[in-house]
Amino acid sequence: MRIRSVHSLKENDCLGKAIYNENDSILLNQGVSLTKRMIERLKEKGVSFVYIDDKETEGIITDDVIKESTKQESIRTIKENFTNISQSLKLGKTIDMDKLSPTFSNVVNNILSDIHSNKEAVSMLSDVFCYDTYVFQHSLNVTIYSLALGKKYGLSEKQLEELGLGAILHDIGKVAIPIEVLNKEETLTFEEFALIKEHTNIGFDMLRKAHTISLLTAHCAFQHHERLDGSGYPRGIKGDDIHIYAKIIGIADVFDAVTGNRVYRKAKLPNEGLELLYSGAATMFDKEMVEAFSKTVAIYPIGLEVALSDGRMGVVSKQNGDFTSRPVIRILSEEGKQVTPYELNLMEHLSITITSCETALTQNKVTN
Ligand SMILES: [Fe+2]
Repeated sequence: MRIRSVHSLKENDCLGKAIYNENDSILLNQGVSLTKRMIERLKEKGVSFVYIDDKETEGIITDDVIKESTKQESIRTIKENFTNISQSLKLGKTIDMDKLSPTFSNVVNNILSDIHSNKEAVSMLSDVFCYDTYVFQHSLNVTIYSLALGKKYGLSEKQLEELGLGAILHDIGKVAIPIEVLNKEETLTFEEFALIKEHTNIGFDMLRKAHTISLLTAHCAFQHHERLDGSGYPRGIKGDDIHIYAKIIGIADVFDAVTGNRVYRKAKLPNEGLELLYSGAATMFDKEMVEAFSKTVAIYPIGLEVALSDGRMGVVSKQNGDFTSRPVIRILSEEGKQVTPYELNLMEHLSITITSCETALTQNKVTN
């Protein structure tokens, strides 16, 4: 299996993993031979990457971070409840978060148990979602990244549960913001941006009233856009005034926002997403946390096509634990000539580095 940018897909490429649409139903099934029309449709849907199966990459498989059933159940719960809350708000009804919190806690516990049994670095590169479901999928992804980072950072089980609930509800305040503003492709006006910023205050107000939700969890909604140097919002607080959960969620939020499939712009690859976090490490984000995050996510996910510094090219076939920048590569060509595929472990060849990721063609030069 290998990952391909939709822009480099060819007719008759064989789909390696099913693609789901916004209603969780299958858009294209695994094993389908792609037609021109299907490729066009994927582009229209805003899909950036897909998995394809071919002879050269046979036996390369990716394990999902969380089970498909957990994923579907989580998205359904988030979608149902966020939609209900939004409708109640429109009708001027008060929201009883105490009623809803056990449902969300249950989802968080299921995700957490899947994360505990997952041994690999986290990769959600090809997860496909569409425009109007963005906030639901994003809430799930942020929960997964936050829990994986919190675990790596040494948080206790109780802390992980609080963090998870804060992560799944971090953008709950967005239900009160008009969808046209949230999905606007053009640059936002000052007023529109001020309105979007309000989601932190709205979310905090909703959550802090609930007796069953800890105040720290409520602060996740309040503080996840705050930055170490005071450049964030809503209050512009600094350093240790920002709670550790909010710092974790802030990193997960930015990473998912830039690496996730969005209709109006191309998703960045994980190595680029991480570069972005590193560029803000110590100013906007906690440096130690960014370090821990780099050991948590798959910088070069399994199936990614890469070029090496010695002229060889191949596909990532295995991760190497914490050493997420040095995976095992199945070499497919040397100096532009095809060779019989073989594995090269970058942990055993430290002088060789990954110089570019071919999936996004020439646009993804590795800068470190
Ligand atoms: Fe947010």
